[in-house]
Amino acid sequence: MRIAFLNPQGNFDPLDSYLTEHPDFGGQLVYVKELSLAMARMGVDVDIVTRRIDDPDWAGFSKRVDHYEECRDRLRILRIPFGGSRFIEKEKLWRHIPEFIDNLLKYYGGEPPDYLTGHYADGGYSCVLLQRNTGLGFTFTGHSLGAQKIDKLEMNAETFAGHEQRFHFAQRIDAERLAMQRADTVITSTEQERNEQYAHVLYDGAIDSTDDGRFAVVPPGVNTAIFNDAEQDEDREEHRWLAARTGGHDQPYVVMSSRLDAKKNIEAVFEAYIQSEDLRSKARLALFVRGVEDPYAELDSIPESDRGVMKSILARIDAAGIRDRVDFFDIQSQLQLAGAYRFFGNRGSVFVLSSYYEPFGLAPIEAAACGLAVVATRNGGPSDIFSDGSAVLIDPADPADIAHGILQALENHSRYAEQGKNRVLSRYTWDQTARGYLEVIERNLARPTRSAETPNRLDASSRIEAYLRTVRQN
Ligand code: F6P
Repeated sequence: MRIAFLNPQGNFDPLDSYLTEHPDFGGQLVYVKELSLAMARMGVDVDIVTRRIDDPDWAGFSKRVDHYEECRDRLRILRIPFGGSRFIEKEKLWRHIPEFIDNLLKYYGGEPPDYLTGHYADGGYSCVLLQRNTGLGFTFTGHSLGAQKIDKLEMNAETFAGHEQRFHFAQRIDAERLAMQRADTVITSTEQERNEQYAHVLYDGAIDSTDDGRFAVVPPGVNTAIFNDAEQDEDREEHRWLAARTGGHDQPYVVMSSRLDAKKNIEAVFEAYIQSEDLRSKARLALFVRGVEDPYAELDSIPESDRGVMKSILARIDAAGIRDRVDFFDIQSQLQLAGAYRFFGNRGSVFVLSSYYEPFGLAPIEAAACGLAVVATRNGGPSDIFSDGSAVLIDPADPADIAHGILQALENHSRYAEQGKNRVLSRYTWDQTARGYLEVIERNLARPTRSAETPNRLDASSRIEAYLRTVRQN
């Protein structure tokens, strides 16, 4: 069986050269790569189908066919030329998607794959077009839906035109609606993603979020080759560095590792720490920030978008006089992150994620896999992930509850660390994700696809405008 992953935006290369350097090179690429590799390891032939880019600013994407060394014989990266040769942001790809599909059809000739999976709105729309030509069935994984982005941007009827020019929401919502309507199965990471995001009024008539027959919840996984609790050779040097940086004591830490984004609500953990004498006496605080070793000296070099959060953290630390209880660590790579988690896990530390809302929650499962006890927001994915009580769930808006949760995890560290790790290994590995997809795909291959359904109307522009008028009134 050959499965094609349609992912026109971003790109893939054996070295993951540009990961996180641009919004189109984010977590979705990790998801598609790891899932494809896991399927290939299970003996499935896989194509990651993406765009050929021949651009000196984005070198490494000009070969038409490429491979990951570990799965050369089963997994191909197919780069299909369309929309010229330079890098184009995903928002500007829409009008080129039909060319993508025409050229992909030419590439496959008489030997198309057996099944398709579409990623993000542009991948979903690509599947819709390919299905029209071939009758192939597909699953749709939204990753990040346009309706939620419209809400996040707090758009209204007046600001719509400006945002539309930049983000092309009408095309994105039309594409998502088509993909939702035509996909055999829509795949979400959590029940909450399905129940909350797909129930948005902008998807009315395209999909019914209560229809069990249309959805499968298949959570993503962690790369257990990197995130595990077994001491690695590379750890030795890193652990020496960390021991020196922490001053040689062996007190546990409250560890935070996330972007300095206001919605991650990191300040609340500092607030909890400052308010709880008990907590201050039992642990220290560690904040991992990429590229920043000493935020007091390097504040101006922190990107402007993150600086506000860092400034507010430093102000709290100074007002409470706890500089000597807080350490900052410049963690550069996933390997280094896993090594640091192991170092702190070994001394009974706790990982905290206090976002107001977390769609899935990959960071706490990576930390749990490395032996940290986890305290996580009860809003969003973590409440699904840790529904068995293997982590402490907290109310991110309540510093007293956060402090109480961290103390509970510190005092019962071995129990939470053990249960958290077991939970991750039993449910959140890419092999499990691949098995979940393959079950869905095999079921779908055994029944007719939805291609005969009446086409959806392309009317997202008027839908969005009508929606924004109601938002403004409320
Ligand atoms: O990489 C994660 C991801 O959600 C992608 O799916 C997407 O490329 C990007 O981040 C977010 O896109 P948007 O801001 O358009 O929702």
